[in-house]
Amino acid sequence: MGFKSALTGAFLFGGLALGASTFSPARPPAIPLAVKAPYLNTWLPAGSNGGNGGYLAGEWPVFWTRHITAWTGMIRVDGTTYQWMGAVPNSQNVDQTEFSYTSTRSNFVMNVGDKVEMNITFLSPVTPEDLKRQSLTFSYLDVDVHSLDGDSHDVQLYADVSGEWASGDLNAVIEWDYGTSDGVAYHTFYRQTQTEITESSELPNWGTFYWSTGDADGLTYQSGSDVIVRAAFKNDGVLPNAKDTSFRAVNSNWPVFGFAKDLGSVGGDSVNTLFTIGLTQDNAIQLLGEGSGLTTYPALWKSYFDSDLAAVTFFYNDYSTAAGLATDLDDKVAEDSIAAAGQDYLTITSLSVRQTFGALQFTGTDSDPVIFLKEISSNSDIQTVDVIFPAIPLILYTNPDLLKYLLKPLFLNQENGHYPNTNAIHDLGTFPLAKGYPDGTDEPQPLEECGNMIIMVLAYVQRTDDVDYLNEHYKILQQWAGYLIDESLIPADQISTDDFAGSLANQTNLAIKGIIGLRAMADISDMAGHTDDAANYLNISTSYIDQWQGFGINSQADPPHTTLSYGDADSHGLLYNLYANSLLGYGSDFVPQYVYDMQSDFYPTQALKYCVPLDTRHTYSKTDWQMWAAAIASEETRNDFISHIATWINETPTSNAFTDLYDCVSGDYPGITFKARPVAGGHFALLALP
Ligand SMILES: *[C@@H]1O[C@H](CO)[C@@H](O)[C@H](O)[C@H]1NC(C)=O
Ligand SMILES: *[C@@H]1O[C@H](CO)[C@@H](O)[C@H](O)[C@H]1NC(C)=O
Ligand SMILES: *[C@@H]1O[C@H](CO)[C@@H](O)[C@H](O)[C@H]1NC(C)=O
Repeated sequence: MGFKSALTGAFLFGGLALGASTFSPARPPAIPLAVKAPYLNTWLPAGSNGGNGGYLAGEWPVFWTRHITAWTGMIRVDGTTYQWMGAVPNSQNVDQTEFSYTSTRSNFVMNVGDKVEMNITFLSPVTPEDLKRQSLTFSYLDVDVHSLDGDSHDVQLYADVSGEWASGDLNAVIEWDYGTSDGVAYHTFYRQTQTEITESSELPNWGTFYWSTGDADGLTYQSGSDVIVRAAFKNDGVLPNAKDTSFRAVNSNWPVFGFAKDLGSVGGDSVNTLFTIGLTQDNAIQLLGEGSGLTTYPALWKSYFDSDLAAVTFFYNDYSTAAGLATDLDDKVAEDSIAAAGQDYLTITSLSVRQTFGALQFTGTDSDPVIFLKEISSNSDIQTVDVIFPAIPLILYTNPDLLKYLLKPLFLNQENGHYPNTNAIHDLGTFPLAKGYPDGTDEPQPLEECGNMIIMVLAYVQRTDDVDYLNEHYKILQQWAGYLIDESLIPADQISTDDFAGSLANQTNLAIKGIIGLRAMADISDMAGHTDDAANYLNISTSYIDQWQGFGINSQADPPHTTLSYGDADSHGLLYNLYANSLLGYGSDFVPQYVYDMQSDFYPTQALKYCVPLDTRHTYSKTDWQMWAAAIASEETRNDFISHIATWINETPTSNAFTDLYDCVSGDYPGITFKARPVAGGHFALLALP
């Protein structure tokens, strides 16, 4: 299916279309272009249901919502103009010959009339241990041009972005300007009416976009209507260095911001042009935490840079360092993934890094960073505990301190008395306003979140030895453990994190999470010096895990398996919460090995075309939970899970950013459309085990 749709894409959209592009290691459902933060999250739809097969020319780049963020590229070779990005009508497209991706890069190779070759790299840096760089919500576009046929060619390069990047409301009026600073030429554009900490259709109503390139000889620019600016380049290969000063709505004669660069005579040596796109916001989030009112959190970049332009020019001029750091991360993920489970595993992990970090907003200060997470696409909650939880493998693998910065707003809210319930909270509101639930009316996932919080705290401390952290939060951790003592063995009728699957009593997988949480609390108590508490939690958790085996396992079945809910003999599901038992290093010291072996033997018997279903209620599954189950299975079962998911990535008809929820038979959405969710961090489950 993937290959056929790729060919169709080439013929339909590829202009001259001499042949199809290769896609390596896979053709993702959508290709990450500029995916760095919740508001810088632009993709190229690729899957057959709405995408064009993964060809950069002929399809508009879109924000994760599918709102077009027009990004256009043209190249003029010996007087003939071709389009290499975007979908401007009546354009002659370049021929894409190769596409490839790594953890931080999407790379396209284009043949332009058999005369020159373009190598186009979209780099969205991910620097988990370098918060200064990670705090910048910017992304790179590097275009390299060299001769293909041995002759020199006269080449001009063009790229623009539209005002659509800056507003989810196309009727909003934007303003713009052009300037130069420290070797960087930039267009800036922003909503005329700035309203902090509010959104329109998931895009912010505040902040300033910068679209930049090098301020060098041969550069010309223009702001103005899309039709006028693009025609100027198409016809002349040069822009008039002119500013349109009639500020207007995004959709009123579509203002675009163009750069043209005369590359001169291009021979065999590559000529590089670097562009950057991104936004600055001074304030980022409001949180009900300390005190009785909302606290405003500045964007973290403000801690390192005095002004927008200082940040914009630093980012631009930092390319060689940023590219080096990106290569380090790409290589680390590649080596570790291949060593753990081979190329199919790398196909999954390397598509997950930008997506996960792209849901994080870094705030606070250098000495006190605070990270907020947007639950992208599934109602945009902020700081959803059961969305942070599936993502922790990537966080722990890259920098465990980030988990502490993610949990901080949750502790601040609940330890300052803003939440009345004894269980742990589900989320803090709707991004970017973390106003909490002073009346306790968050989505009720009490057992889920109590287990998640305790397990995450211990996983962080095990990797950092930050024992003080346990003392700081001991009181509330004990409160949540108390809830687990009361509720984890015989779970009441409730939803789990898989809320879309419905409510159910006695969920076997939910119970084991709570019980592992109690086991974790024994270690937390011990490390924090409360040895009596530790003995009690160990006693109770040991007793519970023994009883759980009696309640939750159908040992008469052939093959035997855990049930979806106690006593429902024919039911079953992924026992993915058992992963936490391995993540915390307990293994068969706590949950007997036969439980691992039994599940590992059982899963392959349930596999459909693209996955093992989440449970017996539906034929859909989750990529994150499958990887959690796979990480603790036998090598054979593990590889089975991985090859199913890798095949699905390449063949799914979905064309939005990587969904974690899909139908195991059709590979399509199961009537619920998840996109770009940070739970993709869970795909690193194999690499986070101790
Ligand atoms: C294109 O550029 C990337 C990144 O610099 C490089 O890894 C790749 O080898 C280049 N490919 C070609 C065909 O030039
Ligand atoms: C839950 O499981 C326990 C233990 O098997 C049983 O006593 C109880 O009736 C079950 N509750 C429901 C609602 O099925
Ligand atoms: C828990 O404590 C009780 C009473 O102190 C004891 O009888 C029991 O054996 C302990 N159970 C476990 C599993 O350690």
